[in-house]
Amino acid sequence: MAPREILKIENLTTYFYTWAGVVKAVDGISLDVREGETLGLVGESGSGKSVTALSILRIVPMPGRIIGGKIIYKGENLLEKTEDEMQQIRGKEIAYISQDPATSLNPVFSIADQLTEVIRRHQNVTKEEALKKAIELFRLVEIADPEIKIWNYPHQLSGGMKQRIAIARALSCQPNLLLADEPTTNLDVTIQAQILELMKNLKKLGMSMILITHDMGVVAGVADRINVMYAGRVCEVASTKTIFRNPVHPYSRALLEAVSHVTVKRVQPKIIPGAIPNLISPPSGCRFHPRCDFAAAECAAVVPQLVEIEPEHYVACIRAKEFMENVKEVKL
Ligand SMILES: Nc1ncnc2c1ncn2[C@@H]1O[C@H](COP(=O)(O)OP(=O)(O)O)[C@@H](O)[C@H]1O
Ligand SMILES: [Mg+2]
Repeated sequence: MAPREILKIENLTTYFYTWAGVVKAVDGISLDVREGETLGLVGESGSGKSVTALSILRIVPMPGRIIGGKIIYKGENLLEKTEDEMQQIRGKEIAYISQDPATSLNPVFSIADQLTEVIRRHQNVTKEEALKKAIELFRLVEIADPEIKIWNYPHQLSGGMKQRIAIARALSCQPNLLLADEPTTNLDVTIQAQILELMKNLKKLGMSMILITHDMGVVAGVADRINVMYAGRVCEVASTKTIFRNPVHPYSRALLEAVSHVTVKRVQPKIIPGAIPNLISPPSGCRFHPRCDFAAAECAAVVPQLVEIEPEHYVACIRAKEFMENVKEVKL
């Protein structure tokens, strides 16, 4: 039986209409998230990951606009919903955690006040019941002494603790889909590992998740599948195992080499030469071609489409077949 999708994005296009020109931040991406799976959305900073998440929730800030495509959530196109309907979906069906947990907390109220408020906004419960639920959420995100810690104010908390609370808040309405946007980026390495462990444990709740990161190392142990994005487009999609063992797109390979703690053969983590292009006038053809060691003349002319090169493994590169056949000869 084919896996069921909770979310299916088709040809999503989100542009920013700035004074300097049109920023093609998300330029016709398609991806799907299956029931209960964690999809890693990986790419360097500026590749359109956050704009994808904001588009799903329809909270793209001005001067951004979703100008095309479909976002099918549980069979219905979110782009056809009214703002009232979207408000019901945000938080309750689809929750979002950003890379800056502090922004979701109000400095003047205790955590208990803030969490119970969120819970009561979506559920018909008394203050006492909401507090009990908030404490349970603290336990779920593995905060010690929840009955005491819940009365803290944001300034009393460390970055790691704030991120746990942001996760608790996102989980408070039992969303079916969690969009976690670089949840570990602003944390110390040890705390990062703890939060990742927590994200892994959350998978047991059966929730679907999009885990956004610029670091392949982050998704390695958490994601079921990986979607590699570059400059507003998807370049490779496969299971995490396949991406790590047999990455085909030169950009995926470069990302893997840039990881600091991957177990695959590597020498020193490498910086990918060059920079992500300006998305007002991105390179023609394959947007990665100016940085690609394997670019052919055609790469500047043809926009590569995602092609299934083996079951469940999609690559947008005109040389993909060749790379598949000569995996051993192509050295990076
Ligand atoms: N408010 C905005 N105005 C103009 N351009 C924006 C805005 N937000 C994002 N962008 C542009 O959209 C592109 C994708 O950004 P983003 O989705 O934040 O990347 P990522 O999350 O992968 O780092 C970038 O080129 C960025 O400069
Ligand atoms: Mg981002």
